[in-house]
Amino acid sequence: MNIILLGAPGAGKGTQATRIAQKYGVIHISTGDMFRSNIKEGTEIGKLAKSYIDAGKLVPDAVTCDIVKDRLSKADVIGGYLLDGFPRSLFQAEELGKFADIDLCLNLEVDTALIMDRICGRRVCSCGETYHVSTLKGETTCAKCGNELYRRDDDNPETVKARLDTYNVMTAPLIAYYAAQNKLATVVCGNKTPDEVFEAVCAVLDK
Ligand code: AP5
Ligand code: MG
Repeated sequence: MNIILLGAPGAGKGTQATRIAQKYGVIHISTGDMFRSNIKEGTEIGKLAKSYIDAGKLVPDAVTCDIVKDRLSKADVIGGYLLDGFPRSLFQAEELGKFADIDLCLNLEVDTALIMDRICGRRVCSCGETYHVSTLKGETTCAKCGNELYRRDDDNPETVKARLDTYNVMTAPLIAYYAAQNKLATVVCGNKTPDEVFEAVCAVLDK
C-alpha cells in the first residue's frame, strides 16, 4: 500500500507515521526529515533548504520532487511506503502522479488552536522519537535511547505562523484534489491522544 499522510504542521504526521510504518511494514519517507539530514550533513540541498525551512516556506518544488523521485526508485519501497509531508503543493501532487501509484491519501485533521502549543512544546531526539515538554517532567534526554533532546530550529512561534499560512495556501487544496480522485480518507483528531488517533487510522487502513 502506498499512502500519503496529509495534515497541517503539528497535526501528528510524524507521530502516526512511525506507528503505521511499524504495524503495516511500509517505509516511512518524510521530506522534512530528509531536508534536516541534508542540513546536518552540510550538502548543497541542505544549504538551499535551510533558508526556506527557517522562513516557514516550501523548499522549491523541483528540488523536492527530485529527492522524492530518487527515494522512490530504491528497491526497499517495493512493499509499500508512506509519504509524510509530500506532496505539499498541487504541482508536487501532479508530479508525484507521474512516477508513483498512490492508493490512499490519509488526512489528519487537527484543530489549529492546538498546533502552536504542540509544536513549540515539541522536543525531538536524533533517533526519531518525539516528546512534548509537558510530559517530560524536566527530563532532557530520550527515554528510548538516552540521547540529548533538542528543539527544531523552525519550532518557534513566528516560523510556526508562517508554516501554517503556507499550509493553508499551498497544501490544503490537496484535500479536494485527492477527494476528487476518490483517494481521500480523513481522520478527525480533535483532542484525541496519539493512541486514539492511531486506532482511528488503523480502522481506515484495515478497510
Ligand atoms: P516537516 O518536517 O514535514 O514539518 P511540518 O509539516 O510542519 O510538520 P511537523 O513535523 O512539525 O508536525 P507533524 O505533523 O509531523 O507532527 P508531530 O507528529 O511531530 O517540514 C518542515 C519544513 O520542511 C517545511 O516547513 C518546509 O519548509 C520543508 N518541507 C518539507 N516537506 C516539503 C515539501 N514536500 N515541499 C517543500 N518543502 C517541504 O507532532 C507534533 C507535536 O504534537 C509533538 O510534540 C507530538 O508529540 C505532539 N502530538 C502528536 N500527536 C498528538 C496528539 N494526538 N495529542 C497530543 N499531542 C500530540
Ligand atoms: Mg513531522
